[in-house]
Amino acid sequence: MDRTIKEEKEIDEARQGEAIMIAPEFPSHGKKLYVESYGCAMNFADSEVVASIMAKGGYVTTRDVEEADVVLINTCSIRENAEQRVRNRLTNFKKRKIRQPNLVVGILGCMAERLKKDLLEEEKLVDLVAGPDAYRDLPNLIEEVGTGQKAVNVLLSREETYADISPVKLDLGGVSSFVSITRGCDNMCSFCVVPFTRGRERSRDPETIVKECHELFDQGYREVTLLGQNVDSYRWNMTSKGEIKDPEKPTTNFAQLMEMVAQVSPDLRVRFSTSHPKDMGNEVLEVIAKHENVCNYIHLPVQSGSTEMLRRMNRGYSREWYLERIDAIRRIIPNCSISTDLIAGFCDETEEEHADTISMMELVKWEFAYMYKYSERPKTLAERRYEDNVPEEVKSARLTEIIDLQQEHSKMRHKLLVGTIQKVLVEGPSKKQPDEFMSGRADNNSMTVFPKGSFDKGMYVMVKVTDCTTATLLGEVIEILPPAKKM
Ligand code: SAH
Ligand code: SF4
Ligand code: F3S
Repeated sequence: MDRTIKEEKEIDEARQGEAIMIAPEFPSHGKKLYVESYGCAMNFADSEVVASIMAKGGYVTTRDVEEADVVLINTCSIRENAEQRVRNRLTNFKKRKIRQPNLVVGILGCMAERLKKDLLEEEKLVDLVAGPDAYRDLPNLIEEVGTGQKAVNVLLSREETYADISPVKLDLGGVSSFVSITRGCDNMCSFCVVPFTRGRERSRDPETIVKECHELFDQGYREVTLLGQNVDSYRWNMTSKGEIKDPEKPTTNFAQLMEMVAQVSPDLRVRFSTSHPKDMGNEVLEVIAKHENVCNYIHLPVQSGSTEMLRRMNRGYSREWYLERIDAIRRIIPNCSISTDLIAGFCDETEEEHADTISMMELVKWEFAYMYKYSERPKTLAERRYEDNVPEEVKSARLTEIIDLQQEHSKMRHKLLVGTIQKVLVEGPSKKQPDEFMSGRADNNSMTVFPKGSFDKGMYVMVKVTDCTTATLLGEVIEILPPAKKM
């Protein structure tokens, strides 16, 4: 499925995802905050940090936009259409301000960072602009707006990780949570805007990560997804060259961090995203293989199957390198599901290069893929160096070919699972038939649907898979697993 479709769904869910919460430790002045999130998981995780900072400033979060005093939109710049969607939404809020002049509308996240004052000054769409490293300043910025000023903070930081902030969960009663482990990105893939909107890469203190995972487990969460643009480059107390910063203190790499999180509880599943092919080493694969609760699922974006194209994309690996990493995964973690990201129609893409992507798909047969048409982004290396010269209809035709082939592969991979038994974490009633079916994810990340029974969300069940579609496994529960003893 094209992520644009998936994103629409996620956005609809995101809009409703905000619960009314009173943070009892902080006195409230009764004002209500509504947060809406777009883009990647990191934005969704950040919105919970924002809710926490705002709770300290006396704000209570609401899921009803109609009763909000402050609306914050956490935005994404990854492709042109992601920004367009947010602009449309902001135009709606602008109209609403005519009815409710005291309503404060703020923009957060990557669009805020990219456009800085533009949305404020030129388009007059918002009252407040806060970039991804400026969220601690939000209560002050809102106060500034209250005194009639337009408030902006888009400073990027080399240190900010919000490590000490316990995010306020916006999906009360959920079983799965994101946990940020790094911020920013140092990779400079030529098509990508993220290094400009999120700044330099920095890792979060491992102790605060493990503490957050313990707290989540105690609150009833049974799955954490460790988040970073490139989780494999997580490093604590080490420089990017691997030199130790403080010899008195221990160092931690991603494999070690994952091991620490895996030990929180055998009943806490660990996922992670995103792995980078140039940095994903065997040590990480061995930790995944060793711990039953670290899921056998790796999202390993390839972008293109052509080495020459990967060079233009500045990805730092070749086709052969990627295929070798796939071999390593299959050798070290048998039954590991692998998904990817693919871009169709990047600058100067020839028919041969596109054919290389198709042949790569045939070789790997990923379980799942997010597939995109290239969208040129301002300031990126590609915008400065190359021409966005693949005609729109060629981009579309190539993307369609990729999507059609991926559908076949996803279906084929799922068919291989019919007849197997999968351990599923129950998430809740199924979306399509909530009265009759429950759903949850199998270890390999496949959405699994099964008839309702005497089990509840947060439980682990063994499901015998009886049928499948491209996107879903269907089956029946053959065993309910008792909770594990805490380690
Ligand atoms: N950090 C992750 C990806 C983050 S962005 C990684 O390195 O893999 C998610 C995906 O969006 C990318 O993998 C890429 O496939 C896609 N993407 C990024 N910039 C894009 C652009 N300008 N046009 C189209 N797709 C893009
Ligand atoms: Fe963008 Fe590349 Fe960084 Fe991923 S690794 S966020 S694609 S620059
Ligand atoms: Fe979008 Fe920013 Fe994430 S550009 S994909 S919200 S890091």
